[in-house]
Amino acid sequence: MAQEDIFKKLVAHCKEYGYVFQSSEIYDGLGAVYDYGQNGVELKNNIKKYWWDSMVLLHENVVGLDSAIFMHPTIWKASGHVDAFNDPLIDNKDSKKRYRADVLIEEALAKIEAKMDKEVAKAKKRFGDAFDEQQFRETNPRVLANQEKWDALHKRFADALNDNNLEELKQIIIDQGVACPISGSKNWTDVRQFNLMFSTEMGSTAEGASTIYLRPETAQGIFVNYLNVQKTGRMKLPFGIAQIGKAFRNEIVARQFIFRMREFEQMEMQFFVKPGTELDWFEKWKETRMKWHRALGFGDENYRFHQHEKLAHYANAAVDVEYKFPFGFKEVEGIHSRTDFDLSQHQEYSGKKIQYFDPEENRSYVPFVVETSIGVDRMFLQIMAASYCEEEVENNGKVDTRVVLKLPVPLAPIKLAVMPLVKKDGLPEIAREIIDGLKFDFNCQYDEKDSIGKRYRRQDAIGTPFCVTVDHQTKDDNTITIRHRDSMEQERIPIDALRSMISEKVSFKGLFEK
Ligand code: GAP
Repeated sequence: MAQEDIFKKLVAHCKEYGYVFQSSEIYDGLGAVYDYGQNGVELKNNIKKYWWDSMVLLHENVVGLDSAIFMHPTIWKASGHVDAFNDPLIDNKDSKKRYRADVLIEEALAKIEAKMDKEVAKAKKRFGDAFDEQQFRETNPRVLANQEKWDALHKRFADALNDNNLEELKQIIIDQGVACPISGSKNWTDVRQFNLMFSTEMGSTAEGASTIYLRPETAQGIFVNYLNVQKTGRMKLPFGIAQIGKAFRNEIVARQFIFRMREFEQMEMQFFVKPGTELDWFEKWKETRMKWHRALGFGDENYRFHQHEKLAHYANAAVDVEYKFPFGFKEVEGIHSRTDFDLSQHQEYSGKKIQYFDPEENRSYVPFVVETSIGVDRMFLQIMAASYCEEEVENNGKVDTRVVLKLPVPLAPIKLAVMPLVKKDGLPEIAREIIDGLKFDFNCQYDEKDSIGKRYRRQDAIGTPFCVTVDHQTKDDNTITIRHRDSMEQERIPIDALRSMISEKVSFKGLFEK
């Protein structure tokens, strides 16, 4: 099945099974804003816990914070967001559709990459186990010609971004023959910069009101609390502050479902270090974060690092963790070495000294910062895309399709569904008793409607890893059947053995130990 079709099915599945709804749907929706349903909110909370525990519980020098969304407007002047938090936009004159110029060029680069990957895949098929991919990429004339094209385009693109050369961005789009997917025409306007921050008024009277911004990143709330946390927590460098919270960006080109939203959530950690050590810490956090992603078991080959073409105004090194979505490799997380830019700017704009006294060196300085920044929603989409499977299974001698979400067990919204085989003979009561005994430990669901087969399918579709069936034998010997989502295998075990069997699998410990 084509990757776009899989993605469409995934979006429909998210709605049908209570994961994600379009915001304000009964009013025809609000662009690039989404709500999370009964299963979505559980998955989202589990993702946040996986991140929070890995950062705050497992690192004794990382502490948490929950700062306000509204902040003093000067913060955004100091951080550079008022002047430089822009996207380069271009309009197609025929369709009147607006695009991000950098994204159009990235797509042109991805097309060349796809051509090379196709050659590699063909050769791999032809040569089988003896295939040496590296050697093939270094010697095959078609791959080499495309690599040369890619390198030249990439350099031109990176130079244009770094020089903020908007005419050159437009020229690249023209030279690459990029056409609007709606009108099919190459009739483009000039490229213009567009600020992404939402603003609103704070205060009751027109004269007394001041313009404030909805934060476009949670990071600034951490920077402006650096002194508070360092002093009250008696923190010694290096140390980190972690925060999960909403961020807002007026994305003009909001596409691909919850990949790019106008209201979203971030999980950010700012790690404060001694100047000069930041690039070592940058490498350490790159490795730590990649391990965190890979521990979910979606295949190491589906993740890669992507070096930024253009460093943000605050960074001296930056990399993205990318995942292979159905629409290609895309950023899930950013890791940035932000130098002392933010703290120095806040020191200057606020007039307050923001420094660290280093007892070993007997001097004060502004710490440098390494940041890890990941979107909860984008991580959610990554997990859903990686978990969604359609499998052919046998059902009473016929081939049937089973849709199953193979979510990592600790992240699954419902861990255990308990089902009485029939709605009588005391079986529902036993099922309820099992739930009562386990509901403080795991999220359990009672399900008695429809045939057992249908109930299994319903639980597969929401990703429930374990289903327990209570039948007449249970009344005699206190045993139940437990059915495993991925293998569909069933085993008969005593009710008493359930807790220990499930506890081990749903715990985050298993992921952290990887
Ligand atoms: N503080 C640094 C920062 O905000 P970023 O690369 O702009 O860096 C970090 O954003 C992460 O936030 C991204 O990797 C992505 O996961 C998420 N993110 C950014 N914009 C988003 C949007 N419009 N919708 C959903 N997630 C977004």
